[in-house]
Amino acid sequence: MADDGRLPFHLRGNYAPIAEEITTTDLPVRGAIPPALSGVYMRNGPNPRHGPSAHWFFGDGMLHGVRLDAGKASWYKNRWARTACYDGVSRLDPSNFGDRRISAANTHIVRHAGKYLALEEGAFPFEVDAELNSIGPYDFAGKLTTAFTAHPKICAETGEMHAFGYAFMPPWLTYHRFDAEGRLIDSQEIAVKGPTMIHDFAMTRNHIVFMDLPIVFDLQRAMTGKNPFQWSDDYGARLGIMPRGGKAADVRWVEVAPCYVFHPANAYEDDGALVLQVCRYPTMWRGQATDFDSASSFYEWRVDLKTLAVTETPLDDLVSEFPRIDDRRAGLKNRYAYAAGAGPRPGAVEFDRVLKFDRKTGARAQRVFPQTALSEFTFAPGGPG
Ligand SMILES: [Fe+2]
Repeated sequence: MADDGRLPFHLRGNYAPIAEEITTTDLPVRGAIPPALSGVYMRNGPNPRHGPSAHWFFGDGMLHGVRLDAGKASWYKNRWARTACYDGVSRLDPSNFGDRRISAANTHIVRHAGKYLALEEGAFPFEVDAELNSIGPYDFAGKLTTAFTAHPKICAETGEMHAFGYAFMPPWLTYHRFDAEGRLIDSQEIAVKGPTMIHDFAMTRNHIVFMDLPIVFDLQRAMTGKNPFQWSDDYGARLGIMPRGGKAADVRWVEVAPCYVFHPANAYEDDGALVLQVCRYPTMWRGQATDFDSASSFYEWRVDLKTLAVTETPLDDLVSEFPRIDDRRAGLKNRYAYAAGAGPRPGAVEFDRVLKFDRKTGARAQRVFPQTALSEFTFAPGGPG
């Protein structure tokens, strides 16, 4: 697709859809790939099969993979997920309403218990294989009955996977826990005030944290095919803290200043407090706006687990999104966090740098890539943690 400035940002420049699937082998390498960086790197993102999509989040999922072996780049390939959406099935058709098998599978991909799951928060996971070939919708042997977040958390200590699903109709929020073998072993309906967009959540060694924030579902907007969510000045903003292994009735809610968060970097317990590091938007999708009318930056909530008093601390002034940590620290105290970054301008969706936050010293380092653009990346350890 041409780099046409009149198109919405998600259809032009570095976001423009790719029209072909390709497979290449024995890729040329400029410089040197660290030998420890071996394995397959997979990424996923919206890539509309037929021309434009109405919103960044709606395009058909395309998976990209590159295989690295001891300094060599053995192959690269990209494949659309052969989903119902790819085949032209519309979720706006009333006869398909609530069919969780219909997914664009366009948001993220995780591996757990030997399965590769392409994820999109409105549907069941969509299973692919290690070569990016599509297998099909995956509902954990029929046990999953809700949508499934694109950002499940895999516990570095137990191998458990924690996830949730949210929906426009009750149950609005449901939590799920899977054992290390990938069996769904617990589902809990979490009581919230209304249907909000809940993109991600957080896990610590002892708790699960839900973010019930004021981006609220609007049925009339949904029926037009537009982004169905908008900012609400009335809904409020809360964190829900549930003990791991606990029940929905055990959730304690904590009011925070209204905002939106797509992605936490990490959460952990520290000296009687629960610490949650996030990329936070002070407001989003207010009024008619459906694109990114504000930008997020690195921020910390610290909740006293006895009194539930909250301290809210902005940690940085640069735009940052897609935060990641060394996944071996998931749920544990992390010194470092990383994010895609941009300069201090509003509404930025073009990320040109990697940010590294050092929570011990408070320092922030950055590496700018002027010739390219970043999306979410993965931390690959170079050695023991
Ligand atoms: Fe995400």
